Amino acid sequence: MIRTEEIQDYSQVEQLLKSAFKSEAEPRLVERIRSSVIFIPELSIVSETDGHITGHIMLSIAEVIDDDQSYRVACLAPLAVEPTLQRKGIGGALIREALNRCQQFNIPLVFLIGHPSYYPQFGFVKAGHYGFQLKQFEVPEEVFMVYEIEAGALNRLKGEFRYSDAFLDLE
Ligand SMILES: CC(C)(COP(=O)(O)OP(=O)(O)OC[C@H]1O[C@@H](n2cnc3c(N)ncnc32)[C@H](O)[C@@H]1OP(=O)(O)O)[C@@H](O)C(=O)NCCC(=O)NCCS
Repeated sequence: MIRTEEIQDYSQVEQLLKSAFKSEAEPRLVERIRSSVIFIPELSIVSETDGHITGHIMLSIAEVIDDDQSYRVACLAPLAVEPTLQRKGIGGALIREALNRCQQFNIPLVFLIGHPSYYPQFGFVKAGHYGFQLKQFEVPEEVFMVYEIEAGALNRLKGEFRYSDAFLDLE
């Protein structure tokens, strides 16, 4: 079952993030997002099997800056599936549900830094090809990707993609 995360799921989601990423950074990121203005509760989504949380995805608000203009967009992070249940389609189901929900929040584009062999199957393309830059993190260009929610947004918008402060200095 795929559903919106609720407050009583927080501790299970924390355990899931720790076991999927083997790091404290992602649980910290999720906590920071939840207590920030960039948080959209309906875009924090879990998969549940027999009362147990098996996957989690979070999208939050970010911006694209083009000269003196700022556009509201979203970023996808983190995404995690219980290690013993990976490669069964749970990650994909969470991504599709989250992208579907974006339409109701007037989000034109969703950005992420992620595995370049994983996200393109869901329609993500290289953001650099469409005139978007990322300056906050130094990453290979193929891991910086974007998904078009609003038709035409990829060609209409360009500029520097910026994560909110919640994403900075996580280590
Ligand atoms: C990445 C992750 C969320 C994928 O979730 P999942 O439920 O295993 O993914 P799905 O079953 O929906 O994957 C669908 C297809 O994507 C591919 N795939 C899955 N994981 C992949 C990975 N890590 N890299 C590349 N391709 C991957 C496979 O081809 C899979 O199809 P197949 O099983 O027929 O081969 C999960 O592996 C995970 O939690 N990893 C640890 C945390 C992490 O790295 N998160 C993402 C940060 S960018």
